[in-house]
Amino acid sequence: MQDDLKKQAAEAAIPYVKNSRIIGVGTGSTVNHFIDLLAPIKHRFEGAVSSSEASTERLQALGIPVFDLNTVGTLDIYVDGADEINSNLELIKGGGGALTREKIIAAASRLFVCIADQSKLVSRLGAFPLPIEVIPMARSYVAREIIALGGHPVWRENFITDNGNVILDIQRLDILEPIKLESTLNNISGVVTVGLFANRSADTVLLASEQGIQTLNL
Ligand code: 5RP
Repeated sequence: MQDDLKKQAAEAAIPYVKNSRIIGVGTGSTVNHFIDLLAPIKHRFEGAVSSSEASTERLQALGIPVFDLNTVGTLDIYVDGADEINSNLELIKGGGGALTREKIIAAASRLFVCIADQSKLVSRLGAFPLPIEVIPMARSYVAREIIALGGHPVWRENFITDNGNVILDIQRLDILEPIKLESTLNNISGVVTVGLFANRSADTVLLASEQGIQTLNL
């Protein structure tokens, strides 16, 4: 059922990509539906920039060319999922561990369309543990700094990101000021990326529920 809603959200994003030459593509089960829906219309665009090895593999298996972001300049559109979304369209992302490349592509895109089922909409961010990508040698240091900030970091063991780093999932954070917290965590030495997308939030959220698609705009 939740997967049906994810697919409906992905379908709703298809009209947004028309006229785009190259499409920024996120990571996760919702985006996997989006990638599958791009396959039948692949003649309408040149290719994609991908946020993970997993999405790259799926795109290429469907015959969609994947470009290096460095070669394509600013993207018209980036489509990705989220783990939590608030009413300001600020997000927690990184459940799949692809947050760094996701954040880079979101920053390099004019329009960020987030696709999700309604369970992702929350009144306050933080029930979903906030992922941060960390340089391996800094793991314990960063964990201590997070504890000092009142968080409870949990090392995502046996997981290495596409960039060769580790993930700490911060539990028990009541995120009252997402923009401020994103900057504070970003400033800890050894932190590569914080899974809070508040400084660059989504521009549009397509939220699927039993009642249909709700479009949230900034
Ligand atoms: C991956 C992500 C995903 O967008 C997020 O985890 C949502 O995934 P799903 O679509 O499978 O619910 O941020 O790093």
